[in-house]
Amino acid sequence: MLNAKITGTGSYLPEKIVTNKDFESIIDTTDEWIYARTGIKQRHVIAKHETTSSMAEMAANQALEAAGVNASDIDLIIIGTSSPDRVFPSTACILQQKLGVGDCAAFDVQAACSGFIYALGIAHQFIKSGGATKALVIGAEANSRILDYTDRSTCVIFGDGAGAVVVEASDEQGIMSTHMHSDGQYQDLLYINNPIKDQQQDGDKAHMTMHGNDVYKVAVKTLSRIVDETLEANGMKKSDIDWLIPHQANIRIISSVAKKLGMPMEKVVLTIENQGNTSAASVPLALDLAVRDGRIKKGDTILMEAFGGGFVWGSALVRM
Ligand code: COA
Repeated sequence: MLNAKITGTGSYLPEKIVTNKDFESIIDTTDEWIYARTGIKQRHVIAKHETTSSMAEMAANQALEAAGVNASDIDLIIIGTSSPDRVFPSTACILQQKLGVGDCAAFDVQAACSGFIYALGIAHQFIKSGGATKALVIGAEANSRILDYTDRSTCVIFGDGAGAVVVEASDEQGIMSTHMHSDGQYQDLLYINNPIKDQQQDGDKAHMTMHGNDVYKVAVKTLSRIVDETLEANGMKKSDIDWLIPHQANIRIISSVAKKLGMPMEKVVLTIENQGNTSAASVPLALDLAVRDGRIKKGDTILMEAFGGGFVWGSALVRM
């Protein structure tokens, strides 16, 4: 069995920033409410000419450069996204064309906010089994295109962006384990309607619906369980983890997972204040931030985790 190692990271955030204050003139809300309940101060929003694949391209190019890998050497592209450019072809195929990558496998993974963790888990399996040697794994979301800006409980939460990693077959230990779960009984608590099929029920425009409080309760319990599962699978103790990179859904959910790990908040990579919840992009965006600012160093052990609509949840234990 081969090891799969993250050898480069990259990210992209659109230029336009929308602050909580900006929302005060659009909906019945306040900066204080949003910040106190979520930990969010601002989020990035894509411009008209941008798309999920164009953000993925920017992040991918940075990750390729960091890894010292040519796009032409990539033999697998997986994008976690719930806001694809088109229903099909996949955003991964569109990116493949943009990068000028040859005839490798390219597909999207639809696992809501856990999309990047799922994509990483799949790339891990491909590489371990010898099915790929150099993979591009991306989380990219244009959430602003699918938000209902009259629904104050969702539109203030989400932001846009993309994060990417290059995962390569390696002799060194890298991705130690990945864990993926789902439970479809919760499908109505957090979803985006499909305008192709759901027109009668939900109107003709895709938009997100979230029963935040119910989601919150399940997320806290579930993420605690996955932390235990991941440590147990690797025979590790809480104190063996150098960094926690959580999905950035809510600062209170993140704090409770950190507490469970006995981890001080300085060891948790946070982007939520400046980026909001970027769904599948949040984990790779946070990873790239902490790699580039020098906090995460070679040899560090990182626990990544995410939770989202489905419900789907997952984790990855990674040695950098
Ligand atoms: N500004 C002001 N008030 C708001 C508001 C806003 N932006 N959004 C909702 N409210 C109101 C609600 O209408 C409700 O008012 P009511 O009591 O008069 O009905 C009140 O605030 C409380 O709503 P509630 O939904 O119970 O708030 P909350 O404390 O649960 O916070 C979330 C809402 C969305 C921030 C929180 O539930 C959350 O983060 N949930 C988890 C999200 C998540 O993890 N998603 C999964 C991954 S994407």
